[in-house]
Amino acid sequence: MGGSRAQGHSHAPRECGLELASFFFKEGRQGRGRVQLCGPRLLGVAGLQCSSSLSAPPPVLQAGGFIGWFLASRKGETMLAVHFDQPGGPENLYLKTVAKPSPGEGEILVKVHASALNRADLLQRKGLYPPPEGASEILGLEASGLVAEAGPGCRGRWKRGDRVMALLAGGGQAEYVPVPEGLLMPVPGGLSFPEAAAIPEAWITAFQLLHLLGGVKVGETVLIHAGSSGVGTAAVQLSRLAGAIPLVTCGSLEKVQFAKKLGAAAGFNYKEEDFARGVLNFTKGAGVNVILDCVGGSYWEKNLSCLATDGRWILYGLLGGGEVQGQLLSKLLHKRGSLITSVLRPRDKKYKEELVRAFTERILPHFSPPGESPRHLAPVIDRVFPLDKIGEAHRHMEGNGNIGKIVLEMPLPP
Ligand SMILES: NC(=O)c1ccc[n+]([C@@H]2O[C@H](COP(=O)([O-])OP(=O)(O)OC[C@H]3O[C@@H](n4cnc5c(N)ncnc54)[C@H](OP(=O)(O)O)[C@@H]3O)[C@@H](O)[C@H]2O)c1
Repeated sequence: MGGSRAQGHSHAPRECGLELASFFFKEGRQGRGRVQLCGPRLLGVAGLQCSSSLSAPPPVLQAGGFIGWFLASRKGETMLAVHFDQPGGPENLYLKTVAKPSPGEGEILVKVHASALNRADLLQRKGLYPPPEGASEILGLEASGLVAEAGPGCRGRWKRGDRVMALLAGGGQAEYVPVPEGLLMPVPGGLSFPEAAAIPEAWITAFQLLHLLGGVKVGETVLIHAGSSGVGTAAVQLSRLAGAIPLVTCGSLEKVQFAKKLGAAAGFNYKEEDFARGVLNFTKGAGVNVILDCVGGSYWEKNLSCLATDGRWILYGLLGGGEVQGQLLSKLLHKRGSLITSVLRPRDKKYKEELVRAFTERILPHFSPPGESPRHLAPVIDRVFPLDKIGEAHRHMEGNGNIGKIVLEMPLPP
């Protein structure tokens, strides 16, 4: 069950393969500030297509201007990070040399090996979702890698070289990211860094929606919209782990079939059938106890028609818009329904630390190798893109073609 969508992840978009990317990054490290000069030349020699990231404008540090960049680069304290100068399309994305962060009080500096893409990155790139106050401007809500350094005041739980994954408010799509120590988790045994990077945001969101907000119980039915999305594939598996019965909606037969293999008891292609009717048929007219809804506006009426009495409708995204016209309140009241909303990224550190602790204790052990836990969980990876193909990764997500997570892999360490 679960696992990568294809055995051994698809590394399809690798015209500018990892080896070359690795070489390129090493070159960048040896001669800080040479990124713009050596990138296109290297690619030209290799006869490969030049990505927007590698033909980017000259590297300029986010803070400190030219002098700051010059001093930092002399001390070797720079790193590469995903960046855009203007909000807009994926073509605006490139890798930029920025100051390497230092871990603050209670923070661990992680050398990132992999990160993953989230819808929030797409919105932030378009200028529609600024990072919460105090969070990094760099994209990336999750990362996996090795502990590089502990900041002052850390409690000694993590030591240099530990394999970790992190839930972030930003900053994951860079060579280094500082993380409050309470937002780190150990990489479950046997998982690679790309697999681990696919866990924090999607799985912790799904865990929070199902348990903290949805209060899901054994035997209850859960309708999961976008059932083959990153969050959806996690929610299907977590529903089964909780002894609940997951149903999904998806935009294609292939996605429905994949979700069923993961554990969905039934699936409905919303483009070809009325999912509310399908849910009512499946539940013999009772409706579902919980709906995990990242679609919103376009689904509200169908959601209410297939919600069980006393059901919980958990709204956590607005892929189908935020506008509602009609008798929402009277229909909700008629079902004695609860409408609960949630956005994880701007929650405070204390809340997230509690969530990460609960997830670590209750869920992480189930990622252990099959056979070692009663129900084996696995992140689903759609594709792995090298970081310098960040624009392609965004386009892929915007095309809604992914089943599971889109992962970004860093260059191999020198
Ligand atoms: N509130 C939070 O704390 C939180 C945290 C994480 C994620 N999210 C939200 O959760 C959602 C899923 O995130 P993800 O990273 O798992 O996404 P994802 O892997 O990119 O998958 C999203 C899928 O949603 C479906 N979709 C897109 N537009 C749709 C529409 N108008 N109507 C119905 N389905 C649509 C598409 O699949 P089909 O082909 O099946 O249509 C698409 O592949 C996003 O909206 C994201 O912003 C919220």
